[in-house]
Amino acid sequence: MISRLFVTRVMRLTFALSLAIVRGCPISWLLVQRRGFVRNSPYPILVSDPSVYRRFRGRPLRSRVMTARVLFALVFVAALFAEQPIAYSHRKHLALGLQCLDCHSMADIGPAATIPSVGKCMLCHAMAATDKPEVKKIADYAAKGIEIPWQRVYEFQPHAFVRFNHAAHLHAKVDCATCHGDMTKVDTAQKLVNHNMGTCLSCHRQKGASQDCATCHY
Ligand code: HEC
Ligand code: HEC
Ligand code: HEC
Ligand code: HEC
Ligand code: HEC
Repeated sequence: MISRLFVTRVMRLTFALSLAIVRGCPISWLLVQRRGFVRNSPYPILVSDPSVYRRFRGRPLRSRVMTARVLFALVFVAALFAEQPIAYSHRKHLALGLQCLDCHSMADIGPAATIPSVGKCMLCHAMAATDKPEVKKIADYAAKGIEIPWQRVYEFQPHAFVRFNHAAHLHAKVDCATCHGDMTKVDTAQKLVNHNMGTCLSCHRQKGASQDCATCHY
């Protein structure tokens, strides 16, 4: 027989996990804040933000709210780990001898490296590997005249107003792998290198590049 204590522990763990997830999701967190928690619910009160607890103490936690929260959290997590629309492979294409700039063709002349358009894929895939299901999807996008909705991998928080420039780095002989890792080992792009102000500045200091705020911020 499963003991009550065991059930409570599992519930506690599930709840702690869902709370952790929910707190990362603005929409579901808002929902939680609006509904609040109750003392004598089967779930322990884990609200570490005292203002939230004080405001909502004593209000019943409805199971529907719990379900909605968990659903929200699941959708949120699914979105976070969303696969790319097409199982593109850096590993396979680089093994064919393609260079980064063949596809990310603006990297040496502009601020953005850019993601290749579906038209560029079709230069080869009008003929190459047309029997593969993932390649058929590319042809579908091209036929409909819509771009493949790739998910971004590297991104700054919009409110940090960061100005980045690929061309400046390539001209200073910083290569792609320094900032993006070994892409020959991955299929769809993965965040192999973390970029934040600290990592930018430590290289800028080392190479004598500008550390002026306005170099990197609007
Ligand atoms: C045949 C074309 C092709 C080649 C060659 C290629 N890429 Fe890509 N790259 C893509 C496509 C398509 C995506 C978008 C899908 C994805 O994220 O994997 C992408 C995405 C990326 C991303 C993620 C961008 C973001 O923030 O969303 C990075 C970084 C990247 N490539 C770096 C490289 C580097 C470095 C090389 C060379 C070693 C390279 N790529 C070669 C097609 C290519
Ligand atoms: C000094 C570090 C650095 C170097 C060198 C670098 N990148 Fe990036 N790359 C970044 C950062 C940071 C971002 C995110 C920029 C943003 O979100 O505005 C990025 C974004 C990208 C993207 C996403 C699309 C875009 O244009 O924002 C691609 C693709 C990419 N890099 C490919 C490359 C390739 C290919 C090379 C080599 C030719 C390269 N990068 C060299 C740091 C670097
Ligand atoms: C220079 C030619 C060329 C370009 C450009 C190119 N590919 Fe490919 N691609 C190939 C070849 C050749 C294969 C077959 C490789 C293999 O089977 O190992 C392939 C295979 C594939 C596959 C099937 C992989 C598998 O084994 O199932 C996908 C998916 C794919 N490419 C997506 C893309 C996308 C998306 C783009 C545009 C960003 C693109 N390719 C651009 C030449 C190219
Ligand atoms: C070499 C480039 C670089 C320089 C120089 C630089 N920053 Fe940043 N800064 C960044 C990057 C990259 C981020 C992180 C953005 C992110 O996390 O998405 C950042 C983040 C920040 C943030 C945090 C934004 C937030 O809310 O998360 C602040 C504030 C900031 N910078 C201020 C400054 C000030 C002030 C200076 C001058 C003393 C400065 N930065 C110089 C690149 C730089
Ligand atoms: C591995 C070293 C390295 C890293 C990491 C690096 N930079 Fe740089 N950066 C340089 C060098 C070298 C220059 C060129 C200095 C020059 O041309 O005088 C430069 C120049 C720049 C410039 C000036 C462009 C121009 O128009 O002159 C900007 C903006 C910039 N970096 C932003 C960033 C940001 C933002 C990050 C972090 C995401 C970053 N850098 C990470 C080495 C680096």
